[in-house]
Amino acid sequence: MAQLEIKNVTRRFGDFVAVEDVSLNIEAGEFFTLLGPSGCGKTTLLRMIAGFDLPDAGQILLDGKDLSDTPPEKRPLHTVFQSYALFPHMTVAENITFPLKMSRCSPKETRTRLQEALDQMRLTGKADKYPHELSGGEKQRVALARGLINRPRLLLLDESLAALDAKLREEVQVELINLQRDVGITFIFVTHAQTEALALSHRIAVMNRGKVEQVDEPARLYGFPRNRFVADFIGHINMIPVQVLESAHGHLRVAVAGLGDITAPPTAEATAGEDGIFSIRPEQVRIGVHGELTELKNHFSGIVHSVLYQGDVSVYRVKLADDVILEALLPNSAPGQAKLFEVGDSVKVGWRHDAGMFLHG
Ligand SMILES: Nc1ncnc2c1ncn2[C@@H]1O[C@H](COP(=O)(O)OP(=O)(O)OP(=O)(O)O)[C@@H](O)[C@H]1O
Ligand SMILES: [Mg+2]
Repeated sequence: MAQLEIKNVTRRFGDFVAVEDVSLNIEAGEFFTLLGPSGCGKTTLLRMIAGFDLPDAGQILLDGKDLSDTPPEKRPLHTVFQSYALFPHMTVAENITFPLKMSRCSPKETRTRLQEALDQMRLTGKADKYPHELSGGEKQRVALARGLINRPRLLLLDESLAALDAKLREEVQVELINLQRDVGITFIFVTHAQTEALALSHRIAVMNRGKVEQVDEPARLYGFPRNRFVADFIGHINMIPVQVLESAHGHLRVAVAGLGDITAPPTAEATAGEDGIFSIRPEQVRIGVHGELTELKNHFSGIVHSVLYQGDVSVYRVKLADDVILEALLPNSAPGQAKLFEVGDSVKVGWRHDAGMFLHG
């Protein structure tokens, strides 16, 4: 049995369905992420788990027990919001121990737990500071310390890194991964940032318009998106309209109008004559000069249309026959190297027969 079971949960606001028939099983000790664009229902779902809001239909169970009659303060969980919601007139120590005060913990126990929390969150020496005297990362750590001090079963985090700048965010991400591993508490993390979700999570539920599109481990989500929405939302991907020519054991052939045929990995559901999308990640597309890449099953000629230098890598947009544009990403591994091809160069692009995938239109 999963620690948290979300069963066919629906939440409506008037005629609008914010969360629609969502079912998820979250295991104890998991770092689980709800990922999706703004307005897809992530916070609404999290609020129902926390008990700030109730489902119109469906059930939420913790360790097999229905939570619908358990008020938020009685649920063994804690929510950390984006704003961190620290009390400005209280010191770090007072902020962190606030939940213990509420649960009438003894002064001795409170002191012991505070010291543990300060050590664990590397806040020793900050105990008497006020929130306005802290950096963004420190505020985040105080909010986490307060969240963990009552030893909840679940920690819910809603866009809690969104307020941090890119560099600090990366540091805090690493801290969050380590912290979650050390404390072993289940984290349910909400974000609309896909790179963050991929970096942090054991599993991710991709949400779109109130529904769950796919639940998977990060690498499977990236490598095997189930549909167009997931493929497009997670990372960059080339999408070419195609028609299925032939789908047999172990291979799939699709046709691109005006360009030619592509050999793709087999898909169980593809049928000859069906329209769909061939999708392939830019890092799976290779570029070479004329005469190269002929060993690859899929290779086409094209002209470099644009080059986007990004420091570590460059992205080449190559125009193939019939105005099909394909992006290829190459690392700039040689020192000082900015690009391998110039705009206007005649090139070859190619990829392996087992790269990319067919998605239904
Ligand atoms: N109390 C409410 N009354 C009416 N509509 C609401 C209410 N709460 C949320 N909504 C609507 O439900 C939808 C989902 O909102 P929600 O806050 O869950 O989105 P989200 O995925 O958290 O988005 P974001 O990434 O912007 O935080 C939105 O269209 C929102 O306007
Ligand atoms: Mg939200």
